[in-house]
Amino acid sequence: RLLIIDFGSQVTQLIARRLRELNVYCEIHPYQNVTMDFVTDMAPRAIILSGGPDSVTRPGSPRAPDGIFDLGLPILGICYGQQVMMQQLGGEVLGGKISGGGGTAEFGRAFVTPAGTLDLLDGWFDTGREQVWMSHGDHVSKLADGFAVYGTSPNAPYAVTADTARHFYAVQFHPEVHHTPRGAKLYENFVRIAGFKGDWTMGAYREEAIQKIRDEVGDKNVICALSGGVDSSVAAALIHEAVGDQLTCVFVDHGLLRKDEAAEVVGMFRDNMNLSVIHADEADLFLGELDGVSDPETKRKIIGRLFIDVFQKYADQIEGAEFLAQGTLYPDVIESVSFSGGPSVTIKSHHNVGGLPEKMGLKLVEPLRELFKDEVRALGRELGLPASFIGRHPFPGPGLAIRCPGEITRPKLEILREADAVYIDQIRKHGLYDDIWQAFVAILPVRTVGVMGDGRTYDYACALRAVTSVDGMTADYYPFTHEFLGETATRIINEVPGINRVTYDITSKPPGTIEWE
Ligand code: XMP
Repeated sequence: RLLIIDFGSQVTQLIARRLRELNVYCEIHPYQNVTMDFVTDMAPRAIILSGGPDSVTRPGSPRAPDGIFDLGLPILGICYGQQVMMQQLGGEVLGGKISGGGGTAEFGRAFVTPAGTLDLLDGWFDTGREQVWMSHGDHVSKLADGFAVYGTSPNAPYAVTADTARHFYAVQFHPEVHHTPRGAKLYENFVRIAGFKGDWTMGAYREEAIQKIRDEVGDKNVICALSGGVDSSVAAALIHEAVGDQLTCVFVDHGLLRKDEAAEVVGMFRDNMNLSVIHADEADLFLGELDGVSDPETKRKIIGRLFIDVFQKYADQIEGAEFLAQGTLYPDVIESVSFSGGPSVTIKSHHNVGGLPEKMGLKLVEPLRELFKDEVRALGRELGLPASFIGRHPFPGPGLAIRCPGEITRPKLEILREADAVYIDQIRKHGLYDDIWQAFVAILPVRTVGVMGDGRTYDYACALRAVTSVDGMTADYYPFTHEFLGETATRIINEVPGINRVTYDITSKPPGTIEWE
């Protein structure tokens, strides 16, 4: 196994991800917890020192235990990790903007060119230079004994340094991020140098995660708000495998779900997978409170509040629940860290159960906290969830409420459900479902005049939406063919009473958002 000592960089998890992609097992531990005893117990085969926001020139700033440099293990220092390594081994680091007080670090693209042959760089400099993502804060000003330079960039004379005798490597940039496009190669070389076989798999992750959940939960009971989305589904399946009947799921049905959705989700988890699932059918409550409400934020607030009330009501009936399971993913963790207290504006108040654990005095179990979405999907496959389930498009917590601009009524929801089902059926039939991040119908709050047969119609218009995206933060509309759009419009108008006009939304995000509200 490989030990990553975390000095607090926002991208430390990306190092872990790169290593998982190489089928190498690693553990991230915050530097405060890493004592020499800890390292001896863990007996890692190699160590990576992550980046971090502090300055090694600041008294009291984080350090690695000195003893790790005497273990004969390969060590890779990244950014702050490079500076820690240099300073602890007798080199020097010059304070930059951050340690000068108040300034912020600069991040940006740079190009590294070779300055010698190094095993860590095997196959990396194919084109003579490599783009990297650099952090110019402090920088190394004098190398420690035994180190030499193997790569430089215009602003970083010590971009890549190493002590080849001891297999210590130190880089100023972040090889783990997207903007160091071929950075994975450095990790590949590092784990090869350290002698990893690369035989660790998602199956092994599953076993480890199950053991962790058992240790954490013991014989206590766990409750989980199951939405039917990929994250909560995988979390529930994993926890169920770990603690069986100690897990009870509550599926809150707010009456704003898609056609047949409640039956499908409850059926799959309860009947096929033997989970204990409570179907909280509270459509009357939600739709009652939403009656006459058309402001998007008010809708979201009402749904968020009722969701918590309802979940709490059902959870109170479950004996001795001490844990709340959540399908929090790593990107959620980064977002909440980087944006909490920040100056960012609330565009939409997202619906989640964030406030629940404190309110109910519950402890959290979040077994997916270290994973990215595609890894969660891989874990879901590993757990035997059907492929159709794992590949499902995201569906927002407030459900169809935010796809029904203006007042929400039962007849409008019914029309929306039918139109949405036809649209998704079309997308599946044309084999486009997996190319699209998200597709849905919004029913518009206008009625328009049409002619069907010999008669006049006066029915609702709807908008089709389909976008491509990698993370939902930005998106572009999907370029359907005119034939597809025409065929789909005809089907919806013919098959769904109540709709006589179909439009296609070609707005990207930004400036639009994916949902209509
Ligand atoms: P927007 O509309 O903000 O949506 O571009 C981005 C992504 O987030 C989903 N979304 C939500 N998901 N609770 C959720 O769980 C919400 O309140 C919520 N609002 C939007 C949306 O479907 C898209 O995938």
